[in-house]
Amino acid sequence: MRLIIREDPKAVAYYTANYVRQRINEFKPTRNRPFVLGLPTGSTPVEVYWHLVDFYKRGEVSFRNVITFSMDEYVGLPRSHPESYCSFMHRHLYDHINLRPENIHMLDGNAEDLAAECQRYEEKIKEVGGIELFLGGIGPDGHIAFNEPGSSLESVTRVKTLAYETVLANARFFGGDVNKVPKLALTVGVGTVRAAREVLLIITGAHKAVALAKCIEEGVNHMWTVSVIQLHPSAMVVCDEDATLELHVKTVRYFKSIEQVQEQLIGRQNISLKGSISKLVGYDPDQAYRPIADPSANEKSALDTDSSDVSHQDESDQGSITDSADDDQYSVDQSEDDGESDNVQEMDRNTLSATELTASGSSEANGTRTNGSLVPAAVTGNPF
Ligand code: PGA
Repeated sequence: MRLIIREDPKAVAYYTANYVRQRINEFKPTRNRPFVLGLPTGSTPVEVYWHLVDFYKRGEVSFRNVITFSMDEYVGLPRSHPESYCSFMHRHLYDHINLRPENIHMLDGNAEDLAAECQRYEEKIKEVGGIELFLGGIGPDGHIAFNEPGSSLESVTRVKTLAYETVLANARFFGGDVNKVPKLALTVGVGTVRAAREVLLIITGAHKAVALAKCIEEGVNHMWTVSVIQLHPSAMVVCDEDATLELHVKTVRYFKSIEQVQEQLIGRQNISLKGSISKLVGYDPDQAYRPIADPSANEKSALDTDSSDVSHQDESDQGSITDSADDDQYSVDQSEDDGESDNVQEMDRNTLSATELTASGSSEANGTRTNGSLVPAAVTGNPF
């Protein structure tokens, strides 16, 4: 697996959104060969979604041939409730991009037969060819989606009782009142996440440092369900410095050094987006290794220059290397393709000057700040 460490949550959000944009564009989805994306809720992905909306508005990514599956939903909360995950996904993402409504999939926590609803979800995922990229957050107790400690690592979509710690953590969304937090949820299983062809986890904050350490430094364990990603052939964790607080210094240095070796010795041009190496151009094995500047420096300076210009960074950031990545296992017959591919504006972001980028649109005038993060004006309105 890859561990990408960035300074703070803003840099993590940009890295993640940029990665998703590149994966979709590289995949070149069409109607008959859609890109299937699994998506989380929670506070961590909010800024990732802001960037995705921003990329879409700039014409740098299209969601027309993307199919989405949300990870979870509370049981018994009306869909129109502002804290339902249906509302959340619409508010932060779906209402602002060009997803076809029929391509949006969410669990119905008010279904009469909850077990049947969960089975329907699993079948739908299979019907569209499986999930290409599953984005996920984690809880401080190491849960992925609502797979609380003790969940079977083979579990599929089902009804789960929320752990007390999760209910407490989520009370902040219900006026601090634990009694108002639903105690049951529908959630994709650990096995559902594992079945995705790629998994990308976003982990930020000191309160998740123990979970990250359990995930990376200890064995696969159902008490820290996120640790199952050790078994995934194509998994990546993007975290901030605070989340590394419980890792050994040696572990942090190890993963940072991999990124440095990639930058200094191997070269980004030789590494695929998913981290595999298939060719070597301009690679000099005799080149002396010396520590280089933080590879995220470009991103950082872009973020620091003007917080509203958060997307003004080098899109060629591809993370650190791994030894394996099967780039395309998708099985849909492309001969049936209707040829309708997304009309994404091709642009080399590296060639754009700061002035051009500023002029192209992501300005503070287009957004407002919510909890310290930029949210475009359109995103702040509740769709219901
Ligand atoms: P958070 O929640 O992003 O709000 O921290 C993530 C989770 O509990 O899975």
